[in-house]
Amino acid sequence: MPVIGYGTYQTPASITERCVSEALSVGYRLIDTAQCYGNEREVGLACRKSGIARDEIFITTKLWACRGYRDTLHSIDGSLKKLDSDYIDLLLIHEPTGDVYEIYRAMETAKREGKLRAIGVSNFLSERYLDLINHSRIIPAVNQVETHVFRQQRKLRELERQIGTVPESWSPLACGQNNIFRNPVLMEIARANGKSVSQIALRFLLQLGIVVIPKSTNIDHMKENLAVLDFELSPEEMTAIENLEVGRSLFGWW
Ligand SMILES: NC(=O)c1ccc[n+]([C@@H]2O[C@H](COP(=O)([O-])OP(=O)(O)OC[C@H]3O[C@@H](n4cnc5c(N)ncnc54)[C@H](OP(=O)(O)O)[C@@H]3O)[C@@H](O)[C@H]2O)c1
Repeated sequence: MPVIGYGTYQTPASITERCVSEALSVGYRLIDTAQCYGNEREVGLACRKSGIARDEIFITTKLWACRGYRDTLHSIDGSLKKLDSDYIDLLLIHEPTGDVYEIYRAMETAKREGKLRAIGVSNFLSERYLDLINHSRIIPAVNQVETHVFRQQRKLRELERQIGTVPESWSPLACGQNNIFRNPVLMEIARANGKSVSQIALRFLLQLGIVVIPKSTNIDHMKENLAVLDFELSPEEMTAIENLEVGRSLFGWW
């Protein structure tokens, strides 16, 4: 699984094919979509038209509004059809609602059948994450939760490290909230490293072992967000950013 991917939340279906094509052309190989984004079909189309071998692209999608075992199996087939693919690299439960034990059991079945390469969860904070592990066979490969410089999820990440789940950040740029791009601490570190605030925010998460999936509809930003592997933040810079934690969700979701 690539450690940097491309997000497509709130990307209207009408521009998704263009955006994903551009993302693939500049080097992204992980594309993050979801049933509720309404753009799986366009993601599938862009991947197919890119001419890049299917096994070089990592597609993540997420189940929405499933209630139990049977409708989940049906829903997985729906995503496969929209993505126009024989398999999904990573399927996540989008949020802990419905009968998650049964939903996850259906995902385990689909994985055994080869329709899914890996399965995991999203928005499962510590309690729900541990509870699911106690009621299922396969450890979630990934838990995708709100994680950025203002909400760093230290406790959850420590649990995941012990259990063996990869932390993945949604809204790694805080979706522009909290004036992130004008934050003085980030701006100073950006200046010192000859990088942008966005690159500092993403690099911080990568150095903590967190997979990032920034979203942009602007090809220059797409390129900028990928160019974060050629420098390293010092321990002092990491500590300064750790102190930006606000201890709550910026979105009031999970
Ligand atoms: N599982 C979940 O519940 C969940 C929830 C939210 C998001 N996600 C996933 O996480 C992905 C990323 O999160 P997100 O879309 O909420 O927000 P994000 O990636 O944190 O931020 C996107 C915003 O930052 C701007 N931006 C991106 N790169 C920039 C740069 N280099 N310089 C300046 N501005 C920049 C974008 O504008 P421009 O387009 O102008 O660049 C856009 O307004 C989503 O697309 C989705 O795939 C999952």
